[in-house]
Amino acid sequence: MCGIVAYIGRKQAIPVLLEGLKRLEYRGYDSAGVGVMDGGLKVARAVGRVRVLEEKIDETGGLPGTLGIAHTRWATHGGVTEANAHPHRDDRGKGHGIAVIHNGIIENYAVLKKYLEENGHTFTSETDTEVLAHLIGELYRGDLEKAVQAALREVTGAYAIAVICEKEPDTLVVARKGSPLMVGVGNGEYVVASDSSAIVAHTTQAFTLADYTVAKLTRESFRTSTIDDVEITPEVRELEFELAELDLGNFDHYMLKEIHEQPRALRMCLQGRIDVRGGEIVLGGIAQHARTLANTKRIVLVGQGTALHACMVGRYLMEDMAKIAAEADFASEFRYRNPIVDFGTTIIAVSQSGETADTLAALQEAKQRGALVLGIVNAVGSSIARETDAGIYLRVGPEIGVASTKAFTGQVMTAAMLALFIGRRRYLSQEYVGKMLGELAAIPDKIQRVVDASDTIRSIVAKHVERENWLFLGRGINYPVALEGALKLKEISYIHAEGMPAAEMKHGPIALIDSGMPAVFIATRNSQYEKVLSNIAEVRSRGGHIIAVATEGDGHIGTVAQDVIYVPDAPEQLQPMVNVVPLQVLAYHAAVMRGKDVDKPRNLAKSVTVE
Ligand code: AGP
Repeated sequence: MCGIVAYIGRKQAIPVLLEGLKRLEYRGYDSAGVGVMDGGLKVARAVGRVRVLEEKIDETGGLPGTLGIAHTRWATHGGVTEANAHPHRDDRGKGHGIAVIHNGIIENYAVLKKYLEENGHTFTSETDTEVLAHLIGELYRGDLEKAVQAALREVTGAYAIAVICEKEPDTLVVARKGSPLMVGVGNGEYVVASDSSAIVAHTTQAFTLADYTVAKLTRESFRTSTIDDVEITPEVRELEFELAELDLGNFDHYMLKEIHEQPRALRMCLQGRIDVRGGEIVLGGIAQHARTLANTKRIVLVGQGTALHACMVGRYLMEDMAKIAAEADFASEFRYRNPIVDFGTTIIAVSQSGETADTLAALQEAKQRGALVLGIVNAVGSSIARETDAGIYLRVGPEIGVASTKAFTGQVMTAAMLALFIGRRRYLSQEYVGKMLGELAAIPDKIQRVVDASDTIRSIVAKHVERENWLFLGRGINYPVALEGALKLKEISYIHAEGMPAAEMKHGPIALIDSGMPAVFIATRNSQYEKVLSNIAEVRSRGGHIIAVATEGDGHIGTVAQDVIYVPDAPEQLQPMVNVVPLQVLAYHAAVMRGKDVDKPRNLAKSVTVE
């Protein structure tokens, strides 16, 4: 995905735009660019981080103007080049001085490009966005808002766009479908951005554009309408977002900060939702569906990446505590599989950003097949949160590091609350639920003890950080934890890491074991502990180097594993929230030791809003 910022008001636009881009840089950071209106349109673009663009603007003596648009790119169509960086313009000279920035994909751009080329347009980039700029230019008849509406009626795909035009130097037009866009309403000014982190420094009043909505902004007022020019009135609301939450504090990276935040974040996730003594869970967002959930026949949890791993843990929790048949699936696979979704099926979409395109599409597919669709989402007011029938917000605070940490433990914590909520309305006693809620409430302190043991983990990592291939193995509810540990390591240190069920190793992957190969086992005391010990022996006997995540006080594990990371004991169902933390810390130290950009790993973006 990409980051979009736009400003119209009385302040100089560049400082607002660049500060906003830095807030959104986690969304994509291949290249960046700005377009500013000051008598005429001036554009500056650069490959690399926002700071490279900033230096370029400084070199040109700055770009004055109080109307501007800015973009940080995660490449989809076209390589990482300055020519492909946004803003994109309609024909230079012959055009109307139109500049466009875009997050999303214009799926029918090739057909449109052919039509435009046949009508004399020439292109300077490989992007779908430039086609949109030329299309708006082609349809411009003196009214930018109308030209944008007309162009958007011709396109298919996803877009969040901001458009300016030399012939209308006091107008900013923005629009969205499928990609997030929010309009901050200030005093005689508007700040438009992909999410609230780039807005809250200027105003806490904002509205989210609905799909197929266009907003025309001037310094005096705004007008919102559909792409068919039907006027609509957006709901302006107070942003629940503290800028201070975005401060890095004394940490070197957001990922480290967010690992350390987990105890507090999970307490926030639980706050006001559990009654230990009464054995009750209060989930206001889904209370209206309690009876449906109690009678649901099947639960399907869908997500991508880390969110999928949380879905996989949630699947165990739904079966074990809600006593409902459950499965977890890649949202991208679910949506194209012609899934069986019948009456009595509940779909749970899990997403930190609430903007993952495949997860959004999967829940839309399930909805139209009649399922009840719930969301477990962190970003308030996000597309997935708004599309579901009901949901539960994580409340773990904004997660900036591309590698998801507190969102994962928050997703698992929320899934556990939901499973107990449903289970209490089916077979679970008040006593059992009360006991489990007490154990849930104890998880943050247990995580704190693991976070405090970071130095031990760093010393273990240092012994193996040059190894290019790692295995992560777990059984049962710890199998998704193994997958999550492998994902963390590979996505920030670029080490190849593979997670799998410990029992699966014998069916092929054991061939990978060579002398000293790091094999991380989730070996905490549980119903499959003895089986995990056998798997450890199989790897050890072939030269693998065993790193075990084990239960404090386990006197045996040290005789079979060369390195042991001890974690506090918790009920088997809740142990994943504790067991994942050493793997997060391990990945963090490996990335730092290998000199990688922990918060902005190559090729990645925080949320994938394209398919
Ligand atoms: C996790 O560390 C990755 N950054 C990625 O797998 C992420 O979990 C995935 O893209 C899903 O994002 P979401 O939770 O915002 O939907």
